[in-house]
Amino acid sequence: MSNLKIGIIGLGTVASGVYKTLQDINDIEIVKIAVKNINKPRNVNVPRELITDDAYEVVNNPEIDVVVELIGGVEPAWSYISSAIKNGKHIVTANKELLAKKGEELFNLAEEYNRVCLYEAAIAGGIPIIMPIKTILAGNKINKIQAILNGTTNYILTKMDTDGASYEDVLKEAQELGYAETDPTGDVEGYDAAYKITTLATIAFKKRIKIENVYREGITKIRKEDMKLANEFGYKIKLIANATIDEEGNADVRVHPMLISKNTTLAHIDYVTNAVAMSGHPIGNIVLSGPGAGEFPTASSVVGDILAIKAEFGKTDYMLPMMRCHHELRANPIHIDDTFNKYYISITAPNAIGVIAKIGTICANKKISLASILQREVSENNTADIVVITEKCQEKLIKEVVNELDNCTVNSLIRVSD
Ligand code: HSE
Repeated sequence: MSNLKIGIIGLGTVASGVYKTLQDINDIEIVKIAVKNINKPRNVNVPRELITDDAYEVVNNPEIDVVVELIGGVEPAWSYISSAIKNGKHIVTANKELLAKKGEELFNLAEEYNRVCLYEAAIAGGIPIIMPIKTILAGNKINKIQAILNGTTNYILTKMDTDGASYEDVLKEAQELGYAETDPTGDVEGYDAAYKITTLATIAFKKRIKIENVYREGITKIRKEDMKLANEFGYKIKLIANATIDEEGNADVRVHPMLISKNTTLAHIDYVTNAVAMSGHPIGNIVLSGPGAGEFPTASSVVGDILAIKAEFGKTDYMLPMMRCHHELRANPIHIDDTFNKYYISITAPNAIGVIAKIGTICANKKISLASILQREVSENNTADIVVITEKCQEKLIKEVVNELDNCTVNSLIRVSD
């Protein structure tokens, strides 16, 4: 059997893991690796003759069958990938941002040139999720996903919970330990998880979701007090990627912090671990969890994709039909204001007669029912900290409640999972 010849673009953490893993695998030959800076010190020893600083030596190389793109971001990754497809290469990528923003164009182009693009590593790193949805779960109607798709934020929230520490202190520590980036925006503001749920929901629902319609909120406003109170009410706070679709194709896809009952598996997914809970028919409920990032876990997914291509390469004119994407169907987005949720509201109110009655009346006037209410004592500065958990109500009504609580300070408004 002849070797499958691959070219890799990028030689960062994940690509290093791929290179090392492939040393033990026969029949895959790395022909070229493109890097930005040849002289950069790396944690992998690659023969100098394999390395180039011109990605087009990979993209245009007639010897190469598969281009493995591991640089991330939209450009120049899209230029490399689209040129590679036009040159007849199959693609393996871990690029969640590119998939979320250009997935439709990418898969249409791949189909036009009869090439495949596999991306197991882009969603939840080492957890096998795309391949299972496309193959063994293909007979299911999946209508709900709740997932923890970002390890950095899950690490920060777990440490805030276990250490009783503030967001700022834990972020600083995570940056010092190398768990969080110097500019943590992509992770802590929820962009990374939003890219991932966009593609994951598109695949699971078999209807295209557009990133512009994915509501996103990060974890930067979560206070250590919220963590403590959530625990008292029987919850943990997690950054949840949430997606549901109804029979008519109306899809609610979003990323935001959420109080999650301690009775659920997701509440116990800690530190950098990721997890994806899905519901569908006929499978029922399943949860897949594991390492969502890191050199070797992510390499596991990239190498699995390369081997899936290898298994069919040269044997058929139409490779991996189940792994291809045809998303002519689109989901109808539901705006966040039209969604129904339970809410945790932390309020600091003046210590005055009738304050709790006023909160109750504002909610009652909008037909919002309160599930729990807690006030411990009045503080020295004559204010009272009150926590309310509502029953399910429409988001736009809860925003009106917050606006009408005019002489109170609303410290936090966090959605609560069913
Ligand atoms: N930055 C991501 C995380 C890993 O923290 O989970 C890569 O997708």
